Amino acid sequence: MTTSIILDCDPGHDDMMAILLAAAHPNIDLLGITTVSGNGSLDKVTYNAQRICALAGLTIPIGKGANDPLAGKASAAPTIHGASALDGAPLPEPTYDLSELNAVELIAKLVAESPVPVTLVPTGPMTNIAQFLMAHPELHSKIEHIAFMGGSVTRGNWTPYAEFNIWADPEAADVVLRSGIRTTMVGLNVSHMALATPEVLDRLLALDTDLARTVVDLLKFFAHTYDTVFGMPDPPLHDPIPVAAVIDPAVMTTALLPVSIELNGDLTRGATVVDVHGITGRDANVHVALDLDVDYFWNLIVDSIRDLG
Ligand code: BDR
Ligand code: CA
Repeated sequence: MTTSIILDCDPGHDDMMAILLAAAHPNIDLLGITTVSGNGSLDKVTYNAQRICALAGLTIPIGKGANDPLAGKASAAPTIHGASALDGAPLPEPTYDLSELNAVELIAKLVAESPVPVTLVPTGPMTNIAQFLMAHPELHSKIEHIAFMGGSVTRGNWTPYAEFNIWADPEAADVVLRSGIRTTMVGLNVSHMALATPEVLDRLLALDTDLARTVVDLLKFFAHTYDTVFGMPDPPLHDPIPVAAVIDPAVMTTALLPVSIELNGDLTRGATVVDVHGITGRDANVHVALDLDVDYFWNLIVDSIRDLG
């Protein structure tokens, strides 16, 4: 079964892999890519989205989105993704222009024109998604599902309790989780199972294509920074996981749980408060990823790079 999706991202190494997986897999119709400041400035991540499409020969509309979160100012993650937000290999220049529509306008147009309900896959701060939901209540019924990478059942990576995407715009995540739309959260508790080990890189290199070699060079940069910053020589490939879950939900196990976003705590702002034991009495509002079929996930990734040639 094919699912129509819009990928809202901040490329970023793992966002790149999410784009490539979504573009390659026959179960996905990738209607559009929208960008949000996160791993780098809005200009950098938008340029990266264009360069990724050029690299893989894709012609998917790209809408440039939010520069700043709903509250406050943008912050980037150069320690992880490098100065360009996608360091590690030379990439081709864009082959086509950005959409004339900004991210919110492009999402609204694609959703309104789609003959079937659309799934949104945010893999960066959820500013564009929240702005779309607030601006277009008439289109909520056409959103089938929001499957995002962000948060954690356990601890954070950007602060002790907050994961980067949620920390970067907690108010936007709060809007999404309160929307009433079916939502799936892929947090660090699962994304840290998807480690790009040397064996994975060898499988990619064995494809013997220019695309695979470029992807491996980029992932080696990602591995180096993860090792330096977190002591993790095999970096976690967070962002393709919600795409994989849309391709086939069997790639991970989930539980419907109450999840709230901490908006105020001096030490915990941006934390995803997941009520695993049902002790708050709050309504269960999010399908939370709890486990990953790691072999299946990597087969999907390797196959996607093979199929894009
Ligand atoms: C998330 O933050 C970004 O650095 C990655 O692209 C991923 O979306 C992981 O915390
Ligand atoms: Ca990301």
